[in-house]
Amino acid sequence: MYLKNFCLPFFLSITLGFFSCNSEDSGTVSENEEFIDEGEGKVVGLLDNVEIKEYVLKNKNGMEAVILNYGGIVKSLLVPDKNGNLQDVVLGFDSIGQYLRTENPYMGAIIGRYANRISRGVFVMDGRSYTLESNDNENSLHGGIKGFDKVVWNAAKKGNSLRLRYVSIDGEGGYPGNLNVEVMYELTDDNELKITYAATTDKPTPVNLTNHSYFNLSGDYSESVLNHILHLNADKYTPVDETLIPTGEIARTGGTPFDFTTPKAIGEDIQQVPGGYDHNFVLNKLGDSLTLAATLYHEGSGRFMEMFTTEPGVQFYSGNFLDGSLTGKGGKPYQKHAGLCLEAQHFPDSPNRPEFPDTILQPGEKYSQTTVYKFSIK
Ligand code: BGC
Repeated sequence: MYLKNFCLPFFLSITLGFFSCNSEDSGTVSENEEFIDEGEGKVVGLLDNVEIKEYVLKNKNGMEAVILNYGGIVKSLLVPDKNGNLQDVVLGFDSIGQYLRTENPYMGAIIGRYANRISRGVFVMDGRSYTLESNDNENSLHGGIKGFDKVVWNAAKKGNSLRLRYVSIDGEGGYPGNLNVEVMYELTDDNELKITYAATTDKPTPVNLTNHSYFNLSGDYSESVLNHILHLNADKYTPVDETLIPTGEIARTGGTPFDFTTPKAIGEDIQQVPGGYDHNFVLNKLGDSLTLAATLYHEGSGRFMEMFTTEPGVQFYSGNFLDGSLTGKGGKPYQKHAGLCLEAQHFPDSPNRPEFPDTILQPGEKYSQTTVYKFSIK
Protein backbone atom coordinates (compact mmCIF):
# COMPACT_ATOMS: atom_id res chain seq x y z
CA MET A 1 0.00 0.00 0.00
CA TYR A 2 1.35 3.38 -0.93
CA LEU A 3 1.18 6.45 1.26
CA LYS A 4 -0.25 4.78 4.32
CA ASN A 5 -0.51 8.09 6.17
CA PHE A 6 -2.67 9.63 3.54
CA CYS A 7 -4.37 12.18 5.80
CA LEU A 8 -1.27 14.31 6.29
CA PRO A 9 -0.58 14.85 2.59
CA PHE A 10 -4.31 15.44 2.17
CA PHE A 11 -4.20 18.17 4.79
CA LEU A 12 -1.00 19.64 3.39
CA SER A 13 -2.44 19.56 -0.08
CA ILE A 14 -5.29 21.78 0.99
CA THR A 15 -2.92 24.08 2.81
CA LEU A 16 -0.46 24.34 0.00
CA GLY A 17 -3.00 24.13 -2.77
CA PHE A 18 -0.64 21.76 -4.48
CA PHE A 19 -2.25 18.36 -4.78
CA SER A 20 -5.81 17.62 -5.54
CA CYS A 21 -7.24 14.80 -3.48
CA ASN A 22 -9.92 12.85 -5.16
CA SER A 23 -10.53 9.81 -3.10
CA GLU A 24 -13.17 7.84 -4.96
CA ASP A 25 -12.23 8.14 -8.60
CA SER A 26 -8.81 8.07 -10.20
CA GLY A 27 -8.77 11.82 -9.79
CA THR A 28 -6.51 14.63 -10.85
CA VAL A 29 -2.97 13.74 -9.94
CA SER A 30 -1.82 17.19 -8.95
CA GLU A 31 -2.60 20.82 -9.34
CA ASN A 32 0.42 21.79 -11.34
CA GLU A 33 -2.08 23.64 -13.44
CA GLU A 34 0.03 26.72 -13.94
CA PHE A 35 1.92 24.68 -16.51
CA ILE A 36 0.98 25.68 -20.00
CA ASP A 37 2.21 24.49 -23.31
CA GLU A 38 4.19 27.57 -24.11
CA GLY A 39 4.27 26.51 -27.71
CA GLU A 40 7.93 25.73 -27.22
CA GLY A 41 7.54 22.11 -28.12
CA LYS A 42 8.98 21.48 -31.54
CA VAL A 43 7.06 19.02 -33.72
CA VAL A 44 9.44 16.23 -34.68
CA GLY A 45 7.07 13.49 -35.85
CA LEU A 46 3.56 12.08 -35.97
CA LEU A 47 2.08 8.98 -34.35
CA ASP A 48 -1.50 8.10 -35.30
CA ASN A 49 -2.00 11.75 -36.28
CA VAL A 50 -0.80 12.95 -32.89
CA GLU A 51 2.18 15.29 -32.93
CA ILE A 52 5.38 14.07 -31.34
CA LYS A 53 7.13 17.08 -29.87
CA GLU A 54 10.44 17.68 -28.22
CA TYR A 55 10.99 20.10 -25.35
CA VAL A 56 14.29 21.64 -24.32
CA LEU A 57 15.07 22.28 -20.66
CA LYS A 58 18.14 24.36 -19.80
CA ASN A 59 19.82 25.42 -16.61
CA LYS A 60 22.08 28.35 -15.83
CA ASN A 61 25.23 26.19 -16.11
CA GLY A 62 24.61 25.31 -19.74
CA MET A 63 23.18 21.87 -19.07
CA GLU A 64 20.43 20.92 -21.45
CA ALA A 65 17.88 18.09 -21.55
CA VAL A 66 15.75 17.32 -24.59
CA ILE A 67 12.60 15.39 -23.72
CA LEU A 68 9.96 13.91 -26.01
CA ASN A 69 6.25 13.78 -25.25
CA TYR A 70 6.46 10.29 -26.87
CA GLY A 71 7.26 7.93 -23.99
CA GLY A 72 8.55 10.85 -21.92
CA ILE A 73 11.89 9.97 -23.44
CA VAL A 74 15.03 11.79 -22.32
CA LYS A 75 16.47 12.13 -25.80
CA SER A 76 19.66 13.91 -24.83
CA LEU A 77 21.31 15.26 -21.72
CA LEU A 78 24.24 17.63 -22.09
CA VAL A 79 26.60 17.60 -19.10
CA PRO A 80 29.94 19.43 -18.70
CA ASP A 81 33.18 17.47 -18.29
CA LYS A 82 36.19 18.58 -16.19
CA ASN A 83 37.16 21.07 -18.93
CA GLY A 84 33.67 22.50 -19.18
CA ASN A 85 32.90 20.72 -22.46
CA LEU A 86 29.26 19.77 -22.81
CA GLN A 87 28.57 16.27 -24.08
CA ASP A 88 25.51 14.07 -24.32
CA VAL A 89 25.61 11.37 -21.62
CA VAL A 90 22.52 9.34 -22.56
CA LEU A 91 22.11 6.84 -25.37
CA GLY A 92 19.38 7.34 -27.95
CA PHE A 93 18.78 7.92 -31.62
CA ASP A 94 19.15 10.72 -34.13
CA SER A 95 15.76 10.11 -35.76
CA ILE A 96 12.32 9.84 -34.18
CA GLY A 97 11.57 6.87 -36.45
CA GLN A 98 14.19 4.84 -34.60
CA TYR A 99 12.48 5.55 -31.28
CA LEU A 100 9.21 4.21 -32.73
CA ARG A 101 10.71 0.88 -33.81
CA THR A 102 9.93 -2.20 -31.75
CA GLU A 103 13.66 -2.90 -31.44
CA ASN A 104 14.09 0.26 -29.38
CA PRO A 105 15.14 -1.10 -25.95
CA TYR A 106 13.27 1.58 -23.96
CA MET A 107 15.94 4.23 -24.58
CA GLY A 108 15.43 7.08 -22.08
CA ALA A 109 11.74 6.30 -21.61
CA ILE A 110 9.27 6.38 -18.74
CA ILE A 111 8.30 2.83 -17.90
CA GLY A 112 4.89 1.73 -16.60
CA ARG A 113 2.39 0.60 -15.53
CA TYR A 114 4.80 -1.89 -14.01
CA ALA A 115 8.53 -1.44 -14.57
CA ASN A 116 10.50 -4.70 -14.75
CA ARG A 117 9.05 -8.21 -14.92
CA ILE A 118 5.90 -9.90 -13.71
CA SER A 119 6.26 -13.66 -13.86
CA ARG A 120 4.31 -15.29 -16.70
CA GLY A 121 2.31 -12.05 -16.98
CA VAL A 122 -0.08 -13.19 -14.26
CA PHE A 123 -0.84 -12.03 -10.75
CA VAL A 124 -3.63 -12.58 -8.26
CA MET A 125 -5.16 -9.70 -6.33
CA ASP A 126 -8.08 -9.91 -3.92
CA GLY A 127 -8.73 -13.49 -5.04
CA ARG A 128 -8.93 -12.60 -8.74
CA SER A 129 -6.38 -13.50 -11.37
CA TYR A 130 -5.22 -10.86 -13.86
CA THR A 131 -3.48 -11.68 -17.13
CA LEU A 132 -1.11 -9.11 -18.59
CA GLU A 133 0.58 -8.95 -21.97
CA SER A 134 3.60 -11.27 -22.12
CA ASN A 135 6.41 -9.71 -24.16
CA ASP A 136 9.56 -11.22 -22.65
CA ASN A 137 9.43 -14.98 -23.07
CA GLU A 138 6.41 -15.80 -20.93
CA ASN A 139 6.90 -12.81 -18.67
CA SER A 140 5.47 -9.33 -18.87
CA LEU A 141 8.22 -6.72 -19.07
CA HIS A 142 7.94 -2.94 -18.62
CA GLY A 143 4.14 -2.75 -18.87
CA GLY A 144 3.67 -5.19 -21.75
CA ILE A 145 3.44 -4.71 -25.51
CA LYS A 146 2.47 -1.06 -25.36
CA GLY A 147 3.70 0.38 -22.12
CA PHE A 148 3.98 4.01 -21.05
CA ASP A 149 7.16 4.25 -23.14
CA LYS A 150 5.13 3.88 -26.36
CA VAL A 151 2.36 6.45 -25.85
CA VAL A 152 2.19 10.18 -26.43
CA TRP A 153 1.89 12.07 -23.16
CA ASN A 154 0.22 15.40 -22.66
CA ALA A 155 3.10 17.83 -22.15
CA ALA A 156 3.31 21.33 -20.71
CA LYS A 157 6.44 23.29 -19.96
CA LYS A 158 7.25 25.98 -17.47
CA GLY A 159 10.76 27.32 -17.11
CA ASN A 160 13.14 24.44 -16.35
CA SER A 161 10.31 21.92 -15.87
CA LEU A 162 8.22 19.73 -18.12
CA ARG A 163 4.97 18.22 -16.86
CA LEU A 164 3.79 15.05 -18.59
CA ARG A 165 0.38 13.48 -18.07
CA TYR A 166 -1.13 10.24 -19.25
CA VAL A 167 -4.36 8.42 -18.46
CA SER A 168 -3.98 4.66 -18.67
CA ILE A 169 -7.48 3.28 -19.03
CA ASP A 170 -9.02 0.39 -17.12
CA GLY A 171 -7.91 -2.86 -18.77
CA GLU A 172 -4.99 -1.38 -20.71
CA GLY A 173 -2.33 -4.07 -21.00
CA GLY A 174 -4.53 -6.21 -18.72
CA TYR A 175 -4.12 -3.87 -15.74
CA PRO A 176 -7.23 -2.99 -13.71
CA GLY A 177 -8.34 0.56 -13.03
CA ASN A 178 -8.07 3.93 -14.71
CA LEU A 179 -4.69 5.29 -13.72
CA ASN A 180 -3.93 9.01 -13.89
CA VAL A 181 -0.18 9.48 -14.13
CA GLU A 182 1.90 12.61 -13.90
CA VAL A 183 5.66 12.79 -14.39
CA MET A 184 7.62 15.99 -13.89
CA TYR A 185 11.08 16.49 -15.27
CA GLU A 186 13.07 19.37 -13.83
CA LEU A 187 16.59 20.45 -14.74
CA THR A 188 17.78 22.34 -11.69
CA ASP A 189 20.57 24.91 -11.39
CA ASP A 190 22.33 22.38 -9.13
CA ASN A 191 22.88 20.23 -12.23
CA GLU A 192 20.19 17.73 -11.30
CA LEU A 193 17.73 16.00 -13.53
CA LYS A 194 14.90 15.57 -11.07
CA ILE A 195 12.02 13.23 -11.91
CA THR A 196 8.86 13.29 -9.83
CA TYR A 197 6.14 10.73 -10.43
CA ALA A 198 2.55 10.70 -9.15
CA ALA A 199 -0.43 8.47 -9.86
CA THR A 200 -3.97 7.83 -8.65
CA THR A 201 -6.37 5.02 -9.51
CA ASP A 202 -10.05 4.12 -9.26
CA LYS A 203 -9.41 0.37 -8.69
CA PRO A 204 -6.60 -1.42 -6.89
CA THR A 205 -3.72 -1.93 -9.33
CA PRO A 206 0.00 -2.62 -9.30
CA VAL A 207 2.08 0.48 -10.08
CA ASN A 208 5.84 0.65 -10.50
CA LEU A 209 7.22 3.56 -12.52
CA THR A 210 10.76 4.32 -13.57
CA ASN A 211 12.98 5.97 -16.15
CA HIS A 212 15.04 3.86 -18.51
CA SER A 213 17.91 6.17 -19.48
CA TYR A 214 21.13 4.48 -20.58
CA PHE A 215 24.09 6.48 -19.27
CA ASN A 216 27.58 6.67 -20.69
CA LEU A 217 29.37 9.48 -18.88
CA SER A 218 32.26 9.51 -21.37
CA GLY A 219 29.98 11.07 -23.98
CA ASP A 220 31.53 8.65 -26.48
CA TYR A 221 29.23 5.70 -27.00
CA SER A 222 31.88 3.65 -28.74
CA GLU A 223 33.60 3.46 -25.35
CA SER A 224 32.06 0.77 -23.14
CA VAL A 225 30.87 1.59 -19.62
CA LEU A 226 32.88 -1.26 -18.12
CA ASN A 227 35.48 1.32 -17.04
CA HIS A 228 32.90 3.40 -15.13
CA ILE A 229 33.26 3.23 -11.36
CA LEU A 230 29.96 2.32 -9.72
CA HIS A 231 28.90 2.54 -6.12
CA LEU A 232 25.58 0.98 -5.11
CA ASN A 233 24.28 1.68 -1.64
CA ALA A 234 23.01 -1.88 -1.30
CA ASP A 235 24.08 -4.63 1.08
CA LYS A 236 21.50 -6.92 -0.53
CA TYR A 237 20.04 -7.83 -3.90
CA THR A 238 17.35 -10.11 -5.29
CA PRO A 239 18.83 -13.13 -7.16
CA VAL A 240 16.92 -14.18 -10.27
CA ASP A 241 16.15 -17.34 -12.24
CA GLU A 242 17.14 -17.83 -15.88
CA THR A 243 14.20 -15.67 -17.05
CA LEU A 244 15.30 -12.83 -14.72
CA ILE A 245 12.42 -13.35 -12.27
CA PRO A 246 13.45 -13.05 -8.58
CA THR A 247 13.73 -16.38 -6.82
CA GLY A 248 12.38 -14.73 -3.66
CA GLU A 249 15.71 -14.82 -1.86
CA ILE A 250 17.14 -11.56 -0.55
CA ALA A 251 20.85 -12.25 -0.67
CA ARG A 252 23.83 -10.37 0.70
CA THR A 253 26.06 -8.63 -1.84
CA GLY A 254 29.13 -8.81 0.43
CA GLY A 255 31.85 -11.11 -0.91
CA THR A 256 30.06 -11.55 -4.26
CA PRO A 257 30.40 -9.84 -7.70
CA PHE A 258 27.29 -7.88 -6.70
CA ASP A 259 29.13 -5.98 -4.00
CA PHE A 260 29.38 -2.34 -5.09
CA THR A 261 29.26 -0.95 -1.56
CA THR A 262 32.86 0.05 -2.14
CA PRO A 263 33.08 1.75 -5.55
CA LYS A 264 34.56 -0.51 -8.25
CA ALA A 265 34.79 -0.71 -12.02
CA ILE A 266 31.74 -2.32 -13.57
CA GLY A 267 34.04 -4.60 -15.57
CA GLU A 268 35.94 -5.83 -12.53
CA ASP A 269 33.76 -8.83 -11.71
CA ILE A 270 31.27 -8.84 -14.58
CA GLN A 271 32.70 -12.04 -16.08
CA GLN A 272 31.51 -13.85 -12.96
CA VAL A 273 27.91 -12.78 -13.61
CA PRO A 274 26.44 -14.87 -16.44
CA GLY A 275 24.90 -12.48 -18.98
CA GLY A 276 26.10 -9.41 -17.09
CA TYR A 277 24.39 -7.31 -14.43
CA ASP A 278 20.61 -7.12 -14.73
CA HIS A 279 19.56 -7.23 -11.10
CA ASN A 280 17.49 -5.43 -8.52
CA PHE A 281 19.58 -4.06 -5.67
CA VAL A 282 17.88 -3.59 -2.31
CA LEU A 283 18.82 -0.12 -1.14
CA ASN A 284 20.10 0.42 2.39
CA LYS A 285 17.31 2.55 3.78
CA LEU A 286 14.34 2.68 6.04
CA GLY A 287 11.10 4.06 4.69
CA ASP A 288 10.71 6.12 1.58
CA SER A 289 12.93 9.13 2.14
CA LEU A 290 15.06 10.51 -0.68
CA THR A 291 18.44 8.84 -0.13
CA LEU A 292 21.59 8.04 -2.07
CA ALA A 293 21.16 4.95 -4.22
CA ALA A 294 24.23 5.02 -6.45
CA THR A 295 27.16 6.99 -7.75
CA LEU A 296 28.83 6.63 -11.13
CA TYR A 297 32.21 8.04 -12.13
CA HIS A 298 34.05 8.26 -15.43
CA GLU A 299 37.65 9.15 -14.79
CA GLY A 300 38.59 10.33 -18.29
CA SER A 301 35.96 13.05 -18.42
CA GLY A 302 35.78 13.62 -14.67
CA ARG A 303 31.99 13.33 -14.82
CA PHE A 304 30.42 12.12 -11.60
CA MET A 305 26.76 11.23 -11.20
CA GLU A 306 24.88 10.70 -7.96
CA MET A 307 21.48 9.07 -7.95
CA PHE A 308 18.98 9.64 -5.16
CA THR A 309 15.59 8.02 -4.89
CA THR A 310 12.61 7.47 -2.64
CA GLU A 311 12.25 3.93 -4.03
CA PRO A 312 13.39 0.79 -2.16
CA GLY A 313 15.32 -0.69 -5.09
CA VAL A 314 17.37 0.03 -8.16
CA GLN A 315 17.77 -2.16 -11.24
CA PHE A 316 21.36 -2.04 -12.40
CA TYR A 317 21.34 -3.16 -16.03
CA SER A 318 24.73 -3.16 -17.74
CA GLY A 319 23.39 -2.93 -21.31
CA ASN A 320 23.90 -6.66 -21.88
CA PHE A 321 21.43 -7.01 -24.74
CA LEU A 322 22.95 -4.22 -26.82
CA ASP A 323 24.73 -6.17 -29.56
CA GLY A 324 25.80 -3.72 -32.24
CA SER A 325 22.58 -4.11 -34.24
CA LEU A 326 21.19 -0.68 -33.29
CA THR A 327 22.61 2.40 -34.94
CA GLY A 328 22.90 5.06 -32.30
CA LYS A 329 23.54 8.79 -32.25
CA GLY A 330 26.12 9.91 -34.74
CA GLY A 331 25.62 6.75 -36.80
CA LYS A 332 27.68 4.55 -34.47
CA PRO A 333 26.41 1.11 -33.44
CA TYR A 334 25.63 0.47 -29.80
CA GLN A 335 27.82 -2.42 -28.78
CA LYS A 336 27.33 -4.54 -25.66
CA HIS A 337 27.77 -2.40 -22.51
CA ALA A 338 27.66 0.90 -24.48
CA GLY A 339 25.42 2.26 -21.73
CA LEU A 340 24.01 1.30 -18.37
CA CYS A 341 20.68 1.86 -16.67
CA LEU A 342 20.05 2.67 -13.02
CA GLU A 343 16.30 2.26 -12.71
CA ALA A 344 14.69 3.33 -9.44
CA GLN A 345 11.93 0.88 -8.66
CA HIS A 346 10.02 -1.46 -6.40
CA PHE A 347 11.24 -5.03 -6.73
CA PRO A 348 10.46 -7.10 -9.85
CA ASP A 349 7.45 -9.43 -9.67
CA SER A 350 6.25 -7.87 -6.40
CA PRO A 351 2.55 -8.57 -7.16
CA ASN A 352 3.47 -12.28 -6.84
CA ARG A 353 5.75 -11.80 -3.85
CA PRO A 354 3.82 -10.77 -0.74
CA GLU A 355 7.13 -10.66 1.17
CA PHE A 356 8.41 -7.79 -1.05
CA PRO A 357 7.37 -4.15 -0.45
CA ASP A 358 3.80 -3.73 -1.66
CA THR A 359 3.17 -2.25 -5.12
CA ILE A 360 -0.63 -2.21 -5.09
CA LEU A 361 -2.05 1.29 -5.31
CA GLN A 362 -5.52 1.63 -3.80
CA PRO A 363 -8.22 4.13 -4.75
CA GLY A 364 -7.82 7.16 -2.49
CA GLU A 365 -4.05 6.72 -2.21
CA LYS A 366 -1.40 8.53 -4.17
CA TYR A 367 1.62 6.88 -5.71
CA SER A 368 4.60 9.17 -5.46
CA GLN A 369 8.26 8.82 -6.29
CA THR A 370 11.17 11.21 -6.62
CA THR A 371 14.44 10.26 -8.30
CA VAL A 372 17.33 12.64 -8.87
CA TYR A 373 20.38 12.22 -11.13
CA LYS A 374 22.89 14.86 -10.03
CA PHE A 375 26.00 15.69 -12.05
CA SER A 376 29.33 17.15 -10.96
CA ILE A 377 33.06 16.83 -11.59
CA LYS A 378 35.65 14.85 -9.66
C1 BGC B 1 15.78 -4.99 -17.97
C2 BGC B 1 16.48 -5.85 -18.98
C3 BGC B 1 15.88 -5.60 -20.31
C4 BGC B 1 16.03 -4.16 -20.63
C5 BGC B 1 15.39 -3.84 -21.93
C6 BGC B 1 15.95 -3.59 -18.36
O1 BGC B 1 15.27 -2.76 -17.48
O2 BGC B 1 16.23 -5.22 -16.67
O3 BGC B 1 16.37 -7.20 -18.64
O4 BGC B 1 16.45 -6.37 -21.29
O5 BGC B 1 15.41 -3.39 -19.63
O6 BGC B 1 16.05 -2.85 -22.54
